[in-house]
Amino acid sequence: MIVLGIESSCDETAAALVNDKREILGQALLSQEEHHAFGGVIPEVAARAHLEHIDEIIQSALQDAGLGFDDIDAIAAASGPGLIGGVVVGVMAAKALSLALNKPFIAVNHLEGHALTVRLSSDVQFPYLLLLTSGGHCQVLIVKGVGQYERLGGTIDDSAGEAFDKVAKMLDIGYPGGPNLEKRAALGDPKKYDFPVPMKGRKDCDFSFSGLKTAVRVAIEKKGNLSEQDKNDMCAAFQYSVVSEMQDRLKHAISVFKEKYPDAKDMVVAGGVAANKSVRKMIEDLAQKNGLIFSAPPIGLCTDNGVMIAWAGLERFRLGHKDNFDFRARPRWPLDTL
Ligand code: KG4
Ligand code: ZN
Repeated sequence: MIVLGIESSCDETAAALVNDKREILGQALLSQEEHHAFGGVIPEVAARAHLEHIDEIIQSALQDAGLGFDDIDAIAAASGPGLIGGVVVGVMAAKALSLALNKPFIAVNHLEGHALTVRLSSDVQFPYLLLLTSGGHCQVLIVKGVGQYERLGGTIDDSAGEAFDKVAKMLDIGYPGGPNLEKRAALGDPKKYDFPVPMKGRKDCDFSFSGLKTAVRVAIEKKGNLSEQDKNDMCAAFQYSVVSEMQDRLKHAISVFKEKYPDAKDMVVAGGVAANKSVRKMIEDLAQKNGLIFSAPPIGLCTDNGVMIAWAGLERFRLGHKDNFDFRARPRWPLDTL
């Protein structure tokens, strides 16, 4: 069974082919550089760029796999949530192929793509505890099965990725913010600044990052002219606070998870921010201390890509799911409504 997956919900135009032996057969990805000058994604620019490149990206993925359209069994597209102009481009491309080739169309929830990708690379069993942390989202979920999600908590304001990006912008360390900030943090001293750890000790699994972001802004203003080392120290202190908050919130989530599912074994982090090594290490340690097995997608599959959509499409397809052409692309599509 071979599934083609198409991703176009933010600023990556991507396509990939996977099979039911958990092999990535081919992939292609174009990270739109049009947004760099703005320090953030401009939806209209993104939609046009997806439209311009989607055909060649699908062709490149097929070429990479050494396969033709006839070899595909189903076509999946990220159909929400996301920037709707881009999502529509991917969905229309998938529906057109589906109609022309007479092969099923599968509408994949982008967040489900992040949530399930780990099952392509590791032997993770349902139910598992998941921290899904990306540019658009930050939530803790129990993944009970394909299409079965129980949300334990989420951010009450910004996502973690958004905080990384905004702080990087304030420090003028370049776009994309997350990876640049991580590199700077490795050169800094986290103890030089005492940023808050929002939500610490609260008896729920919710997150907040907006106060932390403001604390960095205030520190920048107070310091005046920042040296490169000041910037590195602020990055280190900011990242330390993010990781500390995640740790605190996850400790609580683990106890809820264990109470509900005493026999479950797996704990997973996914989404763009899961590419951060300090985040991964903290969750790995936390899992170990609590008798859980830590897994995460390989770093290259944490940020948006076509493989995650192809894989989630395949997981759905082999359970008999497929979608009609009247399926509408959705700007909002919470996982617990699947
Ligand atoms: O999953 P993703 O590619 O897109 C969304 O679905 O939102 O996540 C992108 C987010 C961005 O905010 C980016 O700055 C962040 O993930 N990110 C990172 C790292 N790599 C990407 N944040 C922290 N450290 C990283 N290494
Ligand atoms: Zn994403």
